Amino acid sequence: MQLQIAPSILSADFSELGRDIEMLNHCADLIHLDIMDGSFVPNISFGFPVVEAVSRIATIPMDAHFMVVHPERWVDRCAELGVAMMSFHLEAAGEDSSKILESIRSKGMKAGLVINPDIPVEKLFPYIGQADYFLIMSVFAGFGGQKFIPESLKRIKVLKAELERRGNDAPIEVDGGVGPANAAALREAGASIFVAGSSVFKAEDPCAAVALLRNSR
Ligand code: DX5
Ligand code: ZN
Repeated sequence: MQLQIAPSILSADFSELGRDIEMLNHCADLIHLDIMDGSFVPNISFGFPVVEAVSRIATIPMDAHFMVVHPERWVDRCAELGVAMMSFHLEAAGEDSSKILESIRSKGMKAGLVINPDIPVEKLFPYIGQADYFLIMSVFAGFGGQKFIPESLKRIKVLKAELERRGNDAPIEVDGGVGPANAAALREAGASIFVAGSSVFKAEDPCAAVALLRNSR
């Protein structure tokens, strides 16, 4: 499966956001937007005014990762702003997850379901066929710059095996502590969308860091 690199602007320089988005337009596949509400996670990031500003400059698709309670409230806004991929946490949505995935899809966006590292990966299985992609957190959602949790590799493999068993080709996205040290192993495990915040934006040449992830073998 074609690897896609999704730099997270959480680690960008917000005083130069336009410049950073233009740079990503030239070298990345997706722009990952981390939206945090200070309630589902113990941090607040940014909201729709920033997404709107990004949407005016971005020429590559926006991938919005909602770390919020009641993600269903924001489906219409995302669609209006041209978000291509919208994901939310199973822990936040619980039994409403199927309904929310369906509503995201009905707006023409790709629908993603996310789990934190402490949620058994098997909990995603009932949503195979309902989600367009799955996001496995390899750190606990809430902050950039955390250390990759190695057990995530096993979780990705288990999900990948189940997807293959069912003949489903939904991509697996991985988010948290992704960098050149684990990229090859993540690809091998079955992840095909890499979110990377600090390993891209803290690099001297962010586009070279994207290329390094893309060429990991
Ligand atoms: C964490 C966010 C991530 C984060 C990744 O809650 O979902 O997208 O920005 O940052 P790094 O790559 O620095 O771990
Ligand atoms: Zn994220």
